[in-house]
Amino acid sequence: MALLIQNANVLLPSGEFFLGDVRIEGDRISEIGSKLTSGDAEIIDATGLTLLPGVIDPQVHFREPGLEYKEDLFTASRACARGGVTSFLEMPNTRPLTTTQETLDDKLKRASEKCLVNYGFFIGATPANQSDLLTANPVCGIKIFMGSMHGDLLVDEEAALDAIFSKGERLIAVHAEDQARIRDRRAEYGDSTEPKIHSVIQDNQAALNATELALKLSKKYHRRLHILHMSTAEEAELMQRDKPEWVTAEVTPQHLVLNTSAYETIGTMAQMNPPLRSPHDNEVLWQALRNGAIDFIATDHAPHTLEEKAQSYPKSPSGMPGVETSLAVMLTQAAQGRCTVAQVSNWMSTAVAKAYRIPNKGLIEPGYDADLVLVDLNRSHPVLREEVASKCGWNPFEGWELTGWAQVTIVNGQVVYDRGKFNNEIRGRALRFG
Ligand code: DOR
Repeated sequence: MALLIQNANVLLPSGEFFLGDVRIEGDRISEIGSKLTSGDAEIIDATGLTLLPGVIDPQVHFREPGLEYKEDLFTASRACARGGVTSFLEMPNTRPLTTTQETLDDKLKRASEKCLVNYGFFIGATPANQSDLLTANPVCGIKIFMGSMHGDLLVDEEAALDAIFSKGERLIAVHAEDQARIRDRRAEYGDSTEPKIHSVIQDNQAALNATELALKLSKKYHRRLHILHMSTAEEAELMQRDKPEWVTAEVTPQHLVLNTSAYETIGTMAQMNPPLRSPHDNEVLWQALRNGAIDFIATDHAPHTLEEKAQSYPKSPSGMPGVETSLAVMLTQAAQGRCTVAQVSNWMSTAVAKAYRIPNKGLIEPGYDADLVLVDLNRSHPVLREEVASKCGWNPFEGWELTGWAQVTIVNGQVVYDRGKFNNEIRGRALRFG
């Protein structure tokens, strides 16, 4: 099987663009050049389109097994395809929790049967599964909820965290919120049903406390640490002052472009953990992303049904979907001059592959896997509820006019999405981690 993408504006590893053709043989990119001969290749006319490495989304919650009424691996991976996301790393807070080899194997099997894109999974830390954390395979890393999670996945005591950081070498990814502080503040503000109180209860200090503790433990053991969905100016400033080279951090598009004013427009749909912050936090997060203190972008795609979201705060669950709009939201920011297209692609693909040591992905170069997305940087289209592919059926950016939507998404050399049409038969592969 061969594909020839003709006349695309191709993003090269140098960050420069080249107007030309890209040939794909099997699952790999084989050649980049001008006027390549087509032979028996299937041709994609990419005139006017820009070719980027497929997005690797390193933090998603896809709900299977156990919570398939919200989302499942098939619907979520279709949403990925629509959004230009060709690989994802998924979190362990499913039912059962992904905390053992057996539950990991079950997820991998389900993904191999249902996922249109490539997949990798975290193993979740509990206070009591130390040996699983050391041996479960393949995993992209260990996920620790230091706060904002109930039940077995919560590890919020320093001694228990120390025990995890002290053993093994795997990357540890933390949801950094201080559970004790959240508990106290919830008791203090308990009666309010205003969604905006969410950002007051789970405040900047709660996030900073946990990030500081994780950083302390990472330094103590020289342990690879990744701070998930960094949300505050204080944490971003800490990263700018004091980030060892073995530490990485991510930010979500929503923490860059939404803030607490969103509670007024979309109510509990804006409720997530860690919460949305102030316009000042938006600014400092942007600055940290641009200067490298924050390394990359993840969506924290966390779908809940509209019915669940319609409950009043605090019964309404935290989380919002993201995979099908993240690239277009970020490319719209590029179109508005906040960053460049090459930066967006680095934050959403190249830098993720590097941090998680995913071989052969994240660049358009001969020999690399043909995980690619063609986007249209010249045309805008609104986010419409009726077009949402995620099973949850809504999106926090509904009504936003976005530039840079995925037109064609290619996974392992196969076209999985083409201008509104899905190839539901294609299956992605399990990612490998170096
Ligand atoms: O808002 C959130 N919801 N943040 C998380 O980290 C978890 C997620 C969920 O699973 O619903």
